[in-house]
Amino acid sequence: MNAERTFVMIKPDGVQRRLIGKVLQRIEESGLKVVAMKFLRVSTKMAERHYEIHKGKPFYEGLIKYITSGPVVAMVVEGENAIENIRKMVGATDPKKAQPGTIRGDYAQHIGRNIIHASDGKETARKEIALWFKEDEIIDYSIDDEKWIYE
Ligand code: RTP
Ligand code: MG
Repeated sequence: MNAERTFVMIKPDGVQRRLIGKVLQRIEESGLKVVAMKFLRVSTKMAERHYEIHKGKPFYEGLIKYITSGPVVAMVVEGENAIENIRKMVGATDPKKAQPGTIRGDYAQHIGRNIIHASDGKETARKEIALWFKEDEIIDYSIDDEKWIYE
């Protein structure tokens, strides 16, 4: 198995709408593994670093306000093809275009309240994991069912 790590965050609306359990259930049941997790309120500075790439775009100010508006669940998820798998599970950025069966397709209505974030590529995943977690907060471990999940 060629394990890959990705950064996932349940955004403030996901927490407020009591969807932490449902989102985690989807991740766990897919066979992916949580290797780091924390519950925190995001500072403006942290939000600006995380969404640096969107600076200057019309939705940027609103995005920073949204992400800092309440606590979030930040995590690192590991598994084969984890980056792409989670992006598929999350669905299109705009919930109006997200397929049913995806998190955004099933639980969200508006692009500015889309429940969850997931890294969009290898380089972004590496950068985001380093931004949100110290190395010793990420736990290397195996789960006994892995031989039933990966050949
Ligand atoms: P994310 O980074 O949060 O996982 O979402 P994403 O890759 O699917 O979408 P991205 O283009 O990176 O946009 C980041 C977040 O900004 C908000 N957004 N609002 N109003 C708008 O036009 C607009 N466009 C983007 C969304 O919350 C999106 O998830
Ligand atoms: Mg993105």
